[in-house]
Amino acid sequence: MTGPVLRRVVVTGATGLLGSAVVARLLADGTEAVALVRDADKARRLLPGDERLTVAVGDVTDPASYRKALTGADAVIHTAAYFREYYQPGADLPRLFRTNVDAVTDLLRAAVDASVPVVVQTSSINTLASGTEEAPADESAPPPPGWERNAYRASKVRAERAITAFVGKEKDLRVPLVLPGWMWGPGDAGPTSAGRLFLSVAKGALRAVPRAGNHVVDARDVAAACVRAAESGQSLRRYIAAGRWQRLSATTQGVADAVGVSAPREIPAAAALTFATLLETSAKLRRREPVATREGVRVLLDGNRTRISSARLQSELGVEFRPLSETFADEAAYYRATGLLAPAGGAA
Ligand SMILES: NC(=O)c1ccc[n+]([C@@H]2O[C@H](COP(=O)([O-])OP(=O)(O)OC[C@H]3O[C@@H](n4cnc5c(N)ncnc54)[C@H](OP(=O)(O)O)[C@@H]3O)[C@@H](O)[C@H]2O)c1
Repeated sequence: MTGPVLRRVVVTGATGLLGSAVVARLLADGTEAVALVRDADKARRLLPGDERLTVAVGDVTDPASYRKALTGADAVIHTAAYFREYYQPGADLPRLFRTNVDAVTDLLRAAVDASVPVVVQTSSINTLASGTEEAPADESAPPPPGWERNAYRASKVRAERAITAFVGKEKDLRVPLVLPGWMWGPGDAGPTSAGRLFLSVAKGALRAVPRAGNHVVDARDVAAACVRAAESGQSLRRYIAAGRWQRLSATTQGVADAVGVSAPREIPAAAALTFATLLETSAKLRRREPVATREGVRVLLDGNRTRISSARLQSELGVEFRPLSETFADEAAYYRATGLLAPAGGAA
């Protein structure tokens, strides 16, 4: 299970939920990390001060901007994506495909040119067709029927295909793929849909959630999966890091317990779409980001039917999933420390 020792690793998307957890994990392992970010000030604000951390400014859609940062790296862990923005109204689809598909091939080319031997790609469990409780989906699952209809999902499927084509011609490059479930945890500065939901529940702003369920995972455990994949993951091999399936109401109850507020109640799935429409409209009028969007609710409802196994990650790369109570407690502490949430016992 052990592979080459990583001395210097470039992390794209290092200001994001997963990327910041990857940086923290590398530093904890004693590995030098290069955080490739668009905004150096933001990175300095969000990432730990550590002499083994270098911040490099670059945009993944512009290889010239980051080529130098790859020099001397043992691996790139690629987490940057047009992700958070997709679940907002008015998503920029050309930018989505440029960032999530074209930029991946460019990054692989730049890695080969800089003699970096491994690039870990962050894909998603939403590239997998549903499994059932009796027969959960695994890494061999094809994309779900109609995968092209969801642009974000389509970008992740196309990226996987582009990687397969690229590595077919550049066999010296090793590209393992990590497929996270719905990630939660400290460091969600964006915040992503999970962080927004966390804050809405914590502030008592959300009264109801749809009867749905998903695979929920701590971003720090996915970060461990990315680092293990960089060390010893096989090329073009997928490693699902889905975490545990649980009802959405159990997730929001976990958040409520961690913060000490009452949890939203569960409502039928159909009502949730109408509710999300209202939230989107009201957020638009108030020029705020909506707590939930129709696209986000559709993804939640998809997750309700699907069951996915992370057995390969556990058996081949030795990654375990921590209890989600720890995730929510640490996320509450993070939001309190950043001031996005009032101190325990204080006014929201
Ligand atoms: N979160 C989930 O539940 C989930 C589930 C499955 C898969 N994934 C995948 O996991 C990866 C990480 O997601 P996340 O939750 O950490 O998302 P996130 O918090 O939104 O972070 C995305 C990161 O990508 C960066 N980025 C976006 N466009 C860029 C560009 N053109 N050049 C350079 N950096 C760019 C962002 O930089 P700024 O800070 O400058 O915006 C941010 O640091 C993504 O590939 C996502 O598709 C996420």
